[in-house]
Amino acid sequence: MEQRTIHSHNREAEPLSTSRLTGDATAADIESVRRRTSVFVYEWPVRLWHWVNAALIMTLIVTGWFIASPLPTMNFAEATHQFVMGYNRFIHFACGQLLTVAFAGRVYWALVGNHHSRQLFYVPVWRKAWWKEVVHELRWYAFLEDVPKKYVGHNPLAQVAMFFFMTIGITFMLLTGWALYAEGAGQGSLPDLVMGWLIGLVGNTQILHGLHHLGMWFIIIFMMIHIYAAIREDIMSRQSMVSTMISGHRTFKDDLPD
Ligand code: HEM
Ligand code: HEM
Repeated sequence: MEQRTIHSHNREAEPLSTSRLTGDATAADIESVRRRTSVFVYEWPVRLWHWVNAALIMTLIVTGWFIASPLPTMNFAEATHQFVMGYNRFIHFACGQLLTVAFAGRVYWALVGNHHSRQLFYVPVWRKAWWKEVVHELRWYAFLEDVPKKYVGHNPLAQVAMFFFMTIGITFMLLTGWALYAEGAGQGSLPDLVMGWLIGLVGNTQILHGLHHLGMWFIIIFMMIHIYAAIREDIMSRQSMVSTMISGHRTFKDDLPD
């Protein structure tokens, strides 16, 4: 016991940066460590949802694509022995159902999680300072600003994009997807009772298929910009990005330009 106290006392007396750095650390490395700080941002349910949601959406895009443009019939097997498109649709529907449960879980977490978990569900258009930051981010992404700002949670531009493309986008895909599913499930089924009305509202199933299909492109556009922006910011901004969605911690680099 006595020995342990002395040990921890000794460690406290030593500056953290030097006591923890080993190997080939130089004085410049130690100085750099001293300048870096980190904040815990994304709790595990947010991170888990992010990657599960991303994997489900990727699978839904591939299988949805084939629903829209089916493979030609294969002539090496008897038609009755093939179930390729059946399996494809099954995977699409299973992932659609998981997406529904996962999104409900994410909404629940916004109610009980930390304040960063709520960013996905609103856009603070009433805050003047927020608009100024949106303009700053637009300029930064367009290479018109030299010094990036630091944000603990999503930056304002990312927040707008995530709200419109994801919160609205996923909701749209869930509603239209379940309405399409209602048709297959049949009149009087639970999906029909809950979402069947949407078919009549948009006109007919073909229009609904078209809207659900357009929604896919809306999400694909988001994905391309999102992955580009996440990697670009990881390299060019003064804060960690991709690892933040893995560990939950945002690390801020020092303020000095490279
Ligand atoms: C290699 C692929 C991906 C990487 C590296 C990545 C990275 C990230 C990072 C770093 C953040 C946090 C950004 C911030 O703190 O402002 C984030 C958030 C987010 N990403 Fe991704 N992402 C990927 C794929 C996807 C895909 C495929 C989707 C869905 C189509 C997606 C949807 C989202 C959403 C909705 C958020 C907000 C999370 C929340 O607030 O709950 N991501 N992503
Ligand atoms: C991001 C999520 C989703 C994407 C990207 C997506 C994509 C697609 C695409 C591209 C189609 C083909 C539409 C066409 O005829 O041109 C489709 C069809 C369909 N999707 Fe989705 N979908 C998603 C979510 C869902 C969900 C949540 C459900 C609900 C369970 C669902 C159920 C269906 C159904 C029932 C069809 C019609 C199948 C058929 O006519 O054989 N989808 N989806």
